[in-house]
Amino acid sequence: MALITSPESILDIALAAMQSTENQRLKTLISSLTEHLHEFVLENQLTESEFERALQFIVGIGQATGKNTNEVVLVADILGISSLVSTINNMDVDGGSYAALLGPFWRKNAPLCNWGESISRVDLGGQPMEVHGLILDEFKKPIASAIVDVWHSSPSGFYENQDRLQADMNLRGRFKTNENGEFFFRTIRPAGYPVPTNGPCGELLRAQKRHPNRPAHIHFMISKPGYKVLITQVFDSSDENLESDPVFGVSRQLVGEYLTDDKTGICKLNHSFVLQAGEMVFPAPPIP
Ligand SMILES: [Fe+2]
Repeated sequence: MALITSPESILDIALAAMQSTENQRLKTLISSLTEHLHEFVLENQLTESEFERALQFIVGIGQATGKNTNEVVLVADILGISSLVSTINNMDVDGGSYAALLGPFWRKNAPLCNWGESISRVDLGGQPMEVHGLILDEFKKPIASAIVDVWHSSPSGFYENQDRLQADMNLRGRFKTNENGEFFFRTIRPAGYPVPTNGPCGELLRAQKRHPNRPAHIHFMISKPGYKVLITQVFDSSDENLESDPVFGVSRQLVGEYLTDDKTGICKLNHSFVLQAGEMVFPAPPIP
């Protein structure tokens, strides 16, 4: 094995040491990551104290991760990596994505509901809302009998499992599309909410003078055998934080028109979703 002759020479020696990796994809990914990291260190002439600080940050991320929090996911989110991975794997013809992050609050087995049923299971006040949706395939043909799993935060920005005031499975439900690919449910208008700021990610956001508030949104997970499961979010068009989402989750396709009906005061959202043909695979639920 070669010996070090300059800072730049270390990369080649390290890459050579990885040559025998049997798994070719692992070899490609780790070699490429190593190259980028070496380049980063050289380009920025990283000091020893900066390196130590970076390692402390990574240790802190692990320590802040537990049963109810996942700081590892959060750091990927606030650096735009989660959104990048989601976008390149769910690209539509316009180069955008109909998909968005699952987020930490999806629960499996939300109640199965009927057409027009309300998922507001306890009186929290807030603006009543009606959501109409249409599920299409890539050829714009409606998809009947798709399952539309929805969940969102309360008017004060809390998910049911974060909030003592809410009933179990409040603001969560599953609906089935009719023969025209449509679904309809009632609820109350969600509010935006901050990502957790009590760990190293909060410290980083503060240092970068970034606010932690996600724009208001409703989560959707749409499935039908023969199609890829679409995991997405539809954001409130009137939210002031659309362009400063701390996790960079908002694309043009994901902004929904949350319109208030002047006569009834009801907020109405009409949105269509496109499913891509593929295998129906569900993610692991982040919480039980
Ligand atoms: Fe959310």
